[in-house]
Amino acid sequence: MTKRTPIIAGNWKMHNTLAESATLVEALKKADNKNNAEIIVAPSYTSLAEVARLAKGSAIKVAAQDVHWEDKGAFTSAVSPVQAKDAGATHTILGHSERRSVFGDTDEILNKKVAAALRHGLTIIFCVGETLQQREANETISVIEGQLENGLKGFTAEQLKGLIIAYEPVWAIGTGKTATPDQAQEVHAAIRKFLAGKYSQEFADATRILYGGSVKDTNVDEIMAQPDVDGALVGGQALIAEKFARIINFN
Ligand code: PGA
Repeated sequence: MTKRTPIIAGNWKMHNTLAESATLVEALKKADNKNNAEIIVAPSYTSLAEVARLAKGSAIKVAAQDVHWEDKGAFTSAVSPVQAKDAGATHTILGHSERRSVFGDTDEILNKKVAAALRHGLTIIFCVGETLQQREANETISVIEGQLENGLKGFTAEQLKGLIIAYEPVWAIGTGKTATPDQAQEVHAAIRKFLAGKYSQEFADATRILYGGSVKDTNVDEIMAQPDVDGALVGGQALIAEKFARIINFN
């Protein structure tokens, strides 16, 4: 089986002034990284260029939290993949549940954003996840397969090479409720199986699947111990340097 490099990613959401972002990234630059994890931070757009500048030469890579599907145009308030890349982003999150539920990003829209990110060589962190209602109705796997099927529609394994998937159960995001390690493993294994069937075993084995949803310094070790969990996408605790540093150095 392929050995996959772990990824610890922090989604800063709509937090941090420029000065706060700079302080946080400087602190993270000094953190240990005993697992040689890939470290990614996703600041808000106003801090993107500054964080990328400060992270240069370190192990920290920078992601946009979202990008628009067009390269430029009359789309007030939106940021294009060209602009995100120009600001120093190498990655972009797409399909975060807050984008889906608050801003109305549908599978169809996300599919266009995937195309845009690929066009500009941004590595995609593609988020999927079920609501509590869907979980209780036993729809978890079918919902996630649908999100993957429709969001990634039209692209080959070759084009999607390097894709990162984040499984984030909506009921676990920002709620303090984490999926149990077994629940995470079950869904991660199902995602990998889906990728193997749809693309190839090789693609499935190489794709990193992150867990997100109330990951903390106190639960990261047991989550990361699961065979199909290759990393974490962290919200709240990514804003606190010591906490995020501990998550990077999971046991
Ligand atoms: P949380 O957020 O860690 O605060 O639950 C995770 C996310 O939204 O990516």
